[in-house]
Amino acid sequence: MAEDTFTGKVVIVTGGGSGIGAATAHRFAAGGATVVIIGRTQAKLDKVMSGAPTGSTLIARVGDVSDEEEITGLVDAVAQEHGRLDTLVNNAATCEPLGTVSDIDATGWRRVMSTDVDGVFFASRAALPHLRAVGGSIVNVGSASGLGGDWGLAAYNAAKGAVTNLTNAMALDHGAEGVRVNAVHPSMISTDMTAGFLQNDAIVAAALNRVPMQRFGEPAEAASVITFLASPAASYVNGAHIRVDGGLGASNGNPHIA
Ligand SMILES: NC(=O)c1ccc[n+]([C@@H]2O[C@H](COP(=O)([O-])OP(=O)(O)OC[C@H]3O[C@@H](n4cnc5c(N)ncnc54)[C@H](OP(=O)(O)O)[C@@H]3O)[C@@H](O)[C@H]2O)c1
Repeated sequence: MAEDTFTGKVVIVTGGGSGIGAATAHRFAAGGATVVIIGRTQAKLDKVMSGAPTGSTLIARVGDVSDEEEITGLVDAVAQEHGRLDTLVNNAATCEPLGTVSDIDATGWRRVMSTDVDGVFFASRAALPHLRAVGGSIVNVGSASGLGGDWGLAAYNAAKGAVTNLTNAMALDHGAEGVRVNAVHPSMISTDMTAGFLQNDAIVAAALNRVPMQRFGEPAEAASVITFLASPAASYVNGAHIRVDGGLGASNGNPHIA
């Protein structure tokens, strides 16, 4: 990516205080964008700011994507302060509580839905008028868990499945308005979200046995696909779903038999 790919562009990354969101913010900033990261924890945002590429423009705003009024106000304020909004990356999410439908209570179910689905809806709705004005785009961070089921992740599977098809709906509805909407679908990237799983040797061994590339991904490897989808290089890409999973999704689920 050239240093000036995003010069003059304004980008919002929700959940930009860690992991994939932080790596994405740094990559957009390295490409010349003015980047606003939104998350609920000031200390995490500060850490991302301190690691920003030299000379880049990275701004932190504390906010909760599940709070309709707050996220709408933040998105509008960014567009007003910086004169435009070119890209919204809907990255903030939680996978907790884990569990089956029998395990999860209504509060836990709502926590996942309000962050992972309501948050994408609220931020996208707020961003669309600004994106229409400049021919911008949305990149949703879905998941392999939104393309198929996991054991014991019912709420997260439901939420990320909704993000997958909301991406399709928005690509259809807003393509003619000049707004592209695409999604990346990571699996097993080393971040805070997966730190617990990655400390469990049995889970690591079982997971690596299923991933053709036999390693976990790095946040930067998801970030590079997200920035590609937002870039001029993807100007005719709309409604695309790109897996960032080391080949996990290429399997039909059968074990090694030869
Ligand atoms: N890591 C993986 O293997 C993997 C696989 C598939 C999909 N994904 C997806 O990748 C995205 C990024 O996850 P990650 O792995 O980078 O995990 P992460 O490091 O935990 O990042 C999630 C970020 O979202 C923020 N966040 C959570 N709830 C929020 C809310 N209500 N409002 C605003 N920000 C909120 C968190 O910060 P605060 O708590 O401070 O707000 C955190 O910085 C998520 O959409 C996740 O579902 C990850």
